[in-house]
Amino acid sequence: MKLAILGSGFIARFYADALVGQRRKDEITIVYSRTLENAKKFADDYKVPNYTDSIKECVSHKDVDAVIIGLSNDMHLESVIAAAEAGKHVLCTKPLGRNAKEAYEMLKAVEKANVTGGYLEDLVYSPKSLKSAATIQSGAIGEVIWAKSRETHPGPHSDWFWNKEKSGGGAIIDLGCHCVELCRNYIGKNIKPVEVMCWADTRVHPIDAEDNAVGLVKYENGAIGQFEVSWSFRGGMDLREEVMGTEGTIWTNNFLRTGFEMFTSGKGGKYIAEKAESNSGWLFPIGDEVNELGYNHMFTDMFDAIDNNKQPMENFYDGYVVNAILDAAFASAKSKKWEPVQIEDWRGVAQEKKEKQMTSYDEDYYLIKEEVLPNGEKKYIIKNKKTGSIEKR
Ligand SMILES: NC(=O)c1ccc[n+]([C@@H]2O[C@H](COP(=O)([O-])OP(=O)(O)OC[C@H]3O[C@@H](n4cnc5c(N)ncnc54)[C@H](O)[C@@H]3O)[C@@H](O)[C@H]2O)c1
Repeated sequence: MKLAILGSGFIARFYADALVGQRRKDEITIVYSRTLENAKKFADDYKVPNYTDSIKECVSHKDVDAVIIGLSNDMHLESVIAAAEAGKHVLCTKPLGRNAKEAYEMLKAVEKANVTGGYLEDLVYSPKSLKSAATIQSGAIGEVIWAKSRETHPGPHSDWFWNKEKSGGGAIIDLGCHCVELCRNYIGKNIKPVEVMCWADTRVHPIDAEDNAVGLVKYENGAIGQFEVSWSFRGGMDLREEVMGTEGTIWTNNFLRTGFEMFTSGKGGKYIAEKAESNSGWLFPIGDEVNELGYNHMFTDMFDAIDNNKQPMENFYDGYVVNAILDAAFASAKSKKWEPVQIEDWRGVAQEKKEKQMTSYDEDYYLIKEEVLPNGEKKYIIKNKKTGSIEKR
């Protein structure tokens, strides 16, 4: 795959590290940055043969098959349209849009141009997330009742994130997009998200956008996806998931507790891991950050999809659904009520809420609970099928 990268900042470098870091045949042909100086620095660092300060020149380069967008959120729509109009496949970082309206325009642009629109939601591709989703799909934890995802850190690294007009919001749009998509992957991407209840507040930073929020996303089958986000969490970056199913449970910790712990007096290297607040004392480094955050698996899926003319696992439609859920979260934080998720173009299954599966104790009773007590005795809580009375045996 021959690639153009738009942007030379934080995520563009993570992407380039994934693309050139392992032995592979993909090549970055050209990089765009607002200033030629930044574009040249990036080109020198990653041995990219061409650089430019023109988006049009970058996306139209003849030796480019796919354009990777790593620009600030306010630049996604314009860049996607430019790439699609140039007939190139487009891979855009998260969040796809600042709202669902923008995301839908991007979806329509790639569909009209008949090019692939890949949504670069890396955390869904982390080895732990992939394994969790496969485990859930195999039925190992039964029906998912509740999935929770938390992403919290002390706040982002560039000015534009903190400007609500440019970013589209605070911690909800920046971090909530990851959490919502992780929960969708666990609950089932074909299941329609119907409404959202969200608390959001600006507790710490002098900004207009929210720096803390918690939200509940209700799905048509009754499942709940919960997101917890913060730009004021102290102690690094906390990325955790919990999934509760009728037959099992999954807990993952992607960053602060991965089994790698280190003590240092602070001499030597300054970089420990993304958003780490300290480089001395007891620390929690990440073995291979690019891989553990999902970037390698993500690009493999994106390029395989383009090669085989199929949709990647995370595509622009997913980005649009995520934006629609986040729009409802913003509306709920304002109204303090459950707000509907407005998805004009729903492409998943229309699913009725399933009847509860009741386990029978015998012909006359349902089993509610069985438990072994400390004295070894077995106790059954049962419910009479006719009268509804709850009894013990
Ligand atoms: N895990 C992830 O997937 C992840 C992590 C970080 C950032 N991101 C996303 O990547 C995008 C960029 O974030 P970042 O962290 O790299 O930010 P950054 O500030 O480090 O880099 C932003 C890039 O956009 C350019 N830019 C900013 N405003 C511009 C404008 N008006 N015109 C042209 N170029 C402009 C900057 O020059 C820079 O090259 C955002 O959409 C962000 O949400 C994704």
